[in-house]
Amino acid sequence: PYLLTDQGFVNRDELRYPFEERGLQFGDGVYEVIRIYGGQYYLIKEHVERLFRSAKAIKIKMPFSKEETYEKLDELLKQNNVDQDAKVYLQLTRGSAPRDHAFPKDVPANLYAYVQEMPRKVDALQQGVTTITQPDVRWDYCYIKSLNLLPNVMAKQEATEKGAFEAILHRNKKVTEGSSSNVYLVKDGIIYTHPATENILHGCVRMRVEALSRQLGFPFIQAAFSLDDIAEADEMFISSSTAEVMPVVKVDNITVGTGNPGPVTQQLQQAYEKDAS
Ligand code: PDD
Repeated sequence: PYLLTDQGFVNRDELRYPFEERGLQFGDGVYEVIRIYGGQYYLIKEHVERLFRSAKAIKIKMPFSKEETYEKLDELLKQNNVDQDAKVYLQLTRGSAPRDHAFPKDVPANLYAYVQEMPRKVDALQQGVTTITQPDVRWDYCYIKSLNLLPNVMAKQEATEKGAFEAILHRNKKVTEGSSSNVYLVKDGIIYTHPATENILHGCVRMRVEALSRQLGFPFIQAAFSLDDIAEADEMFISSSTAEVMPVVKVDNITVGTGNPGPVTQQLQQAYEKDAS
């Protein structure tokens, strides 16, 4: 297996970083997770655009132009003969330099990307998943896809220990997003989700969900709902590159709607599947 790096393609076992690497010591970097269906990237443009936005927001210079990034990501799939369902993890950090909080001078960014096989979560997509709620204790710039994932990791671990698939985060009882997904509530055929402010990651799948909702004739309202609204919801679902459009059938002890994936969610799932194939 080959990795794409800022130094070219290298064998997986050959990538070595000094211990003074800013991604390791400060979480000083950004990342992307890009989905691949049948050997083809899905929403590649959205991911590359967001990567450049994230990098710019924390003042890291991408080692490649956008054009080069597309070419190299294609080359990554070719080098690894990818023809199945998979994902690419790409990480960009401020580079390797003696430890100092302030940026190092004239140090190139470190980038690597690798492919990992990833079958679709077929059973969960059909049956729906359970979730828990957790306070959103993250910083004010959640639109940056930062490597600093400790609050997300803690929230997801809490979910995992309770046998749940995802932790739904809230600020003052307003639902922002999941620990690694965006969150939606359906009531009377209308879809509600937190607006794309600095308080959430602007999901690539979220953008598609918005477009597909409109195509299907479901009003898509960018307004935060509260924890209290969950008891009254008809349906809920989450979205991400790895979870796709995933029905949520339980939040803490509350059964969502009938306790089964609802019709709006299922129509969106079908539309998503068509879009991605
Ligand atoms: N996470 N919100 C957060 C906090 C996320 O980490 C993610 C994705 C999303 C959904 O974004 P997208 O639709 O672009 O995948 C929303 C990835 C999958 C991860 O960290 O593994």
